[in-house]
Amino acid sequence: MDKISIQLPDGRISCIYIGKYIRHILQYTVGRKMIILTEQKIYELYKQEFPANVPVVRVEGGEANKTLATIGEITGQLIENGIDRESFIVGIGGGIVCDITGFVASIYMRGLRFGFVPTTLLAQVDAGLGGKNGINFAGYKNMLGVFNQPDFVLCDTSALGTLPARELHAGLAEVVKTALIADNDLFVYLEENVDRILNLDEAVVNHLVKRCVEIKASIVKADEREAGERRKLNLGHTFGHAIEKHSNLLHGEAISIGLCIAARISQKLNLLTENDVQRIDNLLITLKLPVKTAVDKALLLDTITKDKKKQNRYIHFILNDGIGKAKTKLLGFDELGQLVNGISYNL
Ligand SMILES: NC(=O)c1ccc[n+]([C@@H]2O[C@H](COP(=O)([O-])OP(=O)(O)OC[C@H]3O[C@@H](n4cnc5c(N)ncnc54)[C@H](O)[C@@H]3O)[C@@H](O)[C@H]2O)c1
Ligand SMILES: [Zn+2]
Repeated sequence: MDKISIQLPDGRISCIYIGKYIRHILQYTVGRKMIILTEQKIYELYKQEFPANVPVVRVEGGEANKTLATIGEITGQLIENGIDRESFIVGIGGGIVCDITGFVASIYMRGLRFGFVPTTLLAQVDAGLGGKNGINFAGYKNMLGVFNQPDFVLCDTSALGTLPARELHAGLAEVVKTALIADNDLFVYLEENVDRILNLDEAVVNHLVKRCVEIKASIVKADEREAGERRKLNLGHTFGHAIEKHSNLLHGEAISIGLCIAARISQKLNLLTENDVQRIDNLLITLKLPVKTAVDKALLLDTITKDKKKQNRYIHFILNDGIGKAKTKLLGFDELGQLVNGISYNL
């Protein structure tokens, strides 16, 4: 079992455990009254692992349910169960459940302590870490949210065994992203262990999750509010988000294509070689991820530049700087357009 601790600015410590099981949660709620928040599907799969005599609030999964209406329903159930500021909320599920849990725990009675048991690879290496907890509003993703860190995150990698293969592969895109921004050794490890990864070899998966947690924790520690260093975690996400919007792809699948586009733009700027770009494509392909899209370039650019959350005519674009390093470049929309028009990634 690995443990990674993050010292928070307010003096608290947030601990991330890798290789522990759902049934161990009682050890981490420090004797407080606990309530579990989970998704119906996860409850059906794992209820035998949930501690006995702990109330469970179940929500429907899916992005469409990451809303204020769900928060309202949960709040009602917290009140009914006598949850107060001394209680503890544990969210067990994917990124959706983690986001909802962190959000409701931060506003219920002005905030109570909470923990996550992320059950998707994406949530173990990304969504469950970093203290961002958001919900959707009026069709805008993560429009309402808070920065707040859980007391603990317990990554039960054995839970990945029931994850649909497509969801597993999508999570691997964030692992590749993490390697690309911060760890050449991890990138090579991924290249050398594709079969063991896809077969969920416990030691290999635990290693991947551990390295991603270490890297995200160190980046978040340096820049909790995304003023600089943390932006690097958005590698592949400028185009990835736009592709996600115009396709039926999962987030990680769209990010995979976004990583390929960012790699080609980096190559244009002499920050990656042709061989590096090929290695990135090949790794993503062997991990069963898409690397091309039929979505029109002009449409993607239009989506990026019209993003309602942006006010200026430029973006902080994340570039590769060799494999295992990234850098931020302020790119004007015109410059971005020229760069994109000079590369090929369409089907
Ligand atoms: N807060 C952050 O920093 C952050 C970062 C990245 C993503 N996110 C958010 O995370 C969400 C996506 O997370 P996700 O990909 O985990 O999606 P998700 O929570 O919807 O889970 C994906 C699917 O897998 C199922 N599932 C989960 N665990 C399972 C298991 N062990 N076995 C079988 N099925 C299982 C779920 O029912 C769901 O159908 C998005 O809403 C995104 O905005 C947040
Ligand atoms: Zn992402």
